[in-house]
Amino acid sequence: MAIKLCVCSTKGGVGKTTLTANLGAYLAGLGQRVLLIDADVQPTLSSYYPLASISDKALTALITDGETGSTVSTIDLSSIELGESEGALDIVLSDDPDGALQNWILHTPDGRVRLRHILSEYDDIYDVVLLDTQGAVGPLQDAAVLSADLLLSPIPPEILSAREFARGTLGMIDRLKPMAALGAPVGPLRGLLYRMDRTADARTIARELRRETYEPSKGQITILETTVPATVAYRESATRQIPVHCWEPRRNGPTASGAETMRALTGELLPHLEG
Ligand SMILES: Nc1ncnc2c1ncn2[C@@H]1O[C@H](COP(=O)(O)OP(=O)(O)OP(=O)(O)O)[C@@H](O)[C@H]1O
Ligand SMILES: [Mg+2]
Repeated sequence: MAIKLCVCSTKGGVGKTTLTANLGAYLAGLGQRVLLIDADVQPTLSSYYPLASISDKALTALITDGETGSTVSTIDLSSIELGESEGALDIVLSDDPDGALQNWILHTPDGRVRLRHILSEYDDIYDVVLLDTQGAVGPLQDAAVLSADLLLSPIPPEILSAREFARGTLGMIDRLKPMAALGAPVGPLRGLLYRMDRTADARTIARELRRETYEPSKGQITILETTVPATVAYRESATRQIPVHCWEPRRNGPTASGAETMRALTGELLPHLEG
């Protein structure tokens, strides 16, 4: 069975695509067979890494026709410096700039739950399926959330982001809960303090978020111990189209390197994968 992990947030610009790209490549570096799915109408993940082969079909055919084979493009592992890896890093590209797919999902009776059933066809081919989503509520975001076993939500520790997490992302989960009756239960959500700087303010907000135990959720929602620091390495590695753990394998000083951060995150999120 492939683990399906959806990176989501109802706020834009919080780091979803950067996190999806880096976590996916880190897992591929561990030897995992990883499929990325760019479920954002703005195809940022689609151009994050150089591609080795480009399929002419993409997300639209995956969702509307259930085409799981002809929709997969491949990332060039050697040019992103994962050349030795026995893993795979493939991607279903985003091809819905006009939002036609969003409309289709909205007006198709099983629109929001189809992707979940379609993705099970990847179970024997991939170990991990990572979905990147748009930072706004919509039918495509719903479909991605409902197809995941686990949700990962980056939260920058600023007061507006923290409030948006409480209001927007938790609200989205509540709204989608009834879909369990249609065979699409909402998976547990892990909040990840993201782009942490070392100010007292960031630490206070992080503490507040952690203190809120999300008791009524009964373990459905927790904030991870791992945090992702704010460092230029994430932008620099994105510019060079390589994963942050290859760009910044080690670092001296108080801030965790890209490799250390990805290792800690994987260990906490997917403990069975971190060797
Ligand atoms: N750890 C980090 N430290 C500093 N900057 C970062 C970090 N991670 C990402 N960034 C930068 O933050 C910006 C937003 O990141 P990203 O595009 O991943 O967010 P997003 O949530 O996918 O946005 P959108 O909602 O528009 O899809 C980018 O410029 C990225 O380079
Ligand atoms: Mg994005």
